[in-house]
Parts: sequence; C-alpha cells; structure tokens
Amino acid sequence: MFRYRTVTPLVAAAGLAFSGAAQAGGTVEVLHWWTSGGEARAVGELKNSFEAEGGTWIDSPIAGGGGDAAMTALRARVVAGNPPAAVQLKGPGIQEWAEQGALADVEDVAGAEGWDAVLPPVLAAIMKHDGKYVAAPVNIHRVDWIWANPEVLARAGIEAMPTTWDEFNAAADALLAAGITPLAHGGQPWQDATIFENVVLGVGGADFFRAALVDLDQDALNSPTMVAAFDQLRRMRGYVDPNFSGRDWNLATAMVMNGEAAFQIMGDWAKGEFLAAGKVPGEDFLCAPTPGNGFVLNSDSFTFFKVSGEDNIAGQKLLASLIMSPGFQATFNLAKGSIPARTDVPLEAFDACAQRSHDDLLKATEANALVPSMAHEMAISRSVRGEFLDLVTEFFNSNMSSEDAAGRLAAAVKRAM
Ligand code: BGC
Repeated sequence: MFRYRTVTPLVAAAGLAFSGAAQAGGTVEVLHWWTSGGEARAVGELKNSFEAEGGTWIDSPIAGGGGDAAMTALRARVVAGNPPAAVQLKGPGIQEWAEQGALADVEDVAGAEGWDAVLPPVLAAIMKHDGKYVAAPVNIHRVDWIWANPEVLARAGIEAMPTTWDEFNAAADALLAAGITPLAHGGQPWQDATIFENVVLGVGGADFFRAALVDLDQDALNSPTMVAAFDQLRRMRGYVDPNFSGRDWNLATAMVMNGEAAFQIMGDWAKGEFLAAGKVPGEDFLCAPTPGNGFVLNSDSFTFFKVSGEDNIAGQKLLASLIMSPGFQATFNLAKGSIPARTDVPLEAFDACAQRSHDDLLKATEANALVPSMAHEMAISRSVRGEFLDLVTEFFNSNMSSEDAAGRLAAAVKRAM
C-alpha cells in the first residue's frame, strides 16, 4: 500500500529530501525479540514514531531473551525467500548475512544524514559492509552489570555493592546465612554465558578477555586464568535458587524487584524492566559494574534485508532515518535501559546508571578495555559462540572440574574454527 505524503518532518529536519516512492511513509515488517515488559515498552516507542511519520508497521516478535529463537526464525524466513524488511540483528551476524548477499544498503540515507560523524567508529564499522551501511544502531547496552535490591542487602548487613569477586562471594555467603537467595538467575545458555563473560573480564582483565573470547587464542582458553574464571562460576552455581533452570531473564529481574533474591548479573536491559515496573534507580534498585576494569559492549541494531516493492524500500529508508534521529535515540534508550548509539545526544535526562555507563565507556575506550560481548553476538561467529554456550551451560549444570572445562572449551573452539 502506498501512502504518498509530503516529505516527513523528521526527514526534512535532517535536510534529507527523499524522492518518489521514498516520500511515502512506506511499510516495514520488523522481526525482533523484544517481548519483556521493558523491551515491549521500548519497541513500542519505535513503532509509534514510525507510524507518526506515516509508516505502516508490521510487527513480527519472536519471544526468547538474547535472540536465539529469533535468529532461527530469521534463517527459516530467508531460506523460504521471504525475509522481513528489518531485523534486530547485530555484530558479526550482520557481515555473515551481507556476505550471503541477503542485505540491502541504506547508504543514501546514511550519507545524506552524516552517520559517520555521529557514531563511534567501532559501531559504524559493524554496521557497514563494503563501505556501505546495511544496518542502523539503536543503542549501546552494557553487559557487565550487577543489579541489587538494597532492602534485601540491608537484611543481611551488606552496606555496599561488591567491587571485587571476593567481596561478591562474601556478600553472597552472608545472604545465604540469612536465608536469602543471593543470585537471581535464569538457567538458559545465553544467561549462563552472560555471567561467564563478565567473570572472565573480572578475573582476567580486558586483554585476557580479548585473547580468549574474541581472538580465540588456544593458550588463553586453556590457561590457569580461565580455570580461575570457571572456579568463580562454580562458586556462583551455589548462589542460585533450586528453580533456576530455564527461567526467563526478566523473571529473574522480578525476583530482585520483589525481594526474593538480592542480586542479578545482567546487561542493562534489566534496568528497562525495573523502570517499566515504576522502580527508581538508587532507591528501589542499585546498579554497579561487575568487578573488573572494562566495559562489555553490546549494541542492538536493525539490519535491512533485500525486499522488493517501492513501498517496502521506502519503509526501510524511513526506519533507518528514524532510528538514527537524536530525538528517537533519547526516547528509546530512556525506556530500554541503554544509552544512545549516537555520540551527540544530551544525557541530562538519563539516570545515574546510564551516566555511569557513558563515563565508563569513555574510560574503557581510553584504556583499551572496551570488549565486545561474546554472549550477545558482538564478538565471534554464531557457530563458535554456540560452542561457548554449550560448554558453559554443561559446566554450570554438572560437576565438571574447572580444569576439564578450560581444556574442553579450547578443544571445542579449535574444532569449530
Ligand atoms: C539484546 C537486548 C535484549 C536482551 C534480552 C540482548 O542480546 O541486545 O536488547 O533486551 O538480549 O532479550
């Protein structure tokens, strides 16, 4: 369906005049996995803004935190020759699809709006294939966070958020002694891997993280440092409740909100859940980086697949322009728990956790301690990531020794490379 209209205010504001069909609002089918309370609120902002610009939004949500189910659904759609126009897809996955010839570029929008000048180069590089933008980033999520319920901590006499893993373990032991579940966790492979990668950063530091989880260096994977990381993970297995298996991440966040558990280790989409429930940062819940110096980077983006029909192509261009508009980046990220991907969006309206994320991002960039998330598909191919997830989950759910885990991880990664 075509809906011709004059140039949209947003497009006009960006100094960008689309021609012909691009002046229509356009239609876009969006495949995403944002179905929790906070996520639905954030994607609702995108849908409303798109419709306000005259677009027609076809929603294709695939439930499942971390997006593994969504990626399976995407493959089926592409194989059937019927890809959605825009897909929540990120990291090296973008390049994998681009190399298969499945993506469309939005370089005309990106060039006219000057995206290169307002994106951190590290993100711009992920969004481009052959020098052309094929995806648009909506945010910067930090993965290495601990969330806590201050009332529950007080019940066990804990006055401050832990800043080392020893302090974390001491706090968790005190909580256990007070009959409180220390760690709200959902036993799903991507959640196990989220804790694992944060522990790897904390125990080994950013250089070690990069060697093991990005460069897949055999010596780093099968090293005493990796054994020490698995030792900490083993300890954390003792801090979760008996019903953790299969639990969704947002239900784990709810346990912290409701005072059923003290901590959750999760990216700042968890903050989106607290906020959607009306909780106030610094009062109802606390945030602190997981112990260690660095920043585990995750960034959501929408990737554009090759579709036919002027209406669909117009919809892609409108969505690309909208996603990258400063106003939208502010509104969306206030709901999502993340910070804008654009570097020029004022952060005054953002809370202290977001400010901390931004400050630490700059510090980590300066100190070369910014690392891409393995668990959230920013670092390595899906197939090698799958080996990490399988091994880490097997370790978490068995009595495998840390030495065996490091050895088996190195071997599995070698086979998959
Ligand atoms: C995504 C977030 C999402 C989270 C849980 C992460 O991989 O980047 O946007 O909220 O998974 O579903």
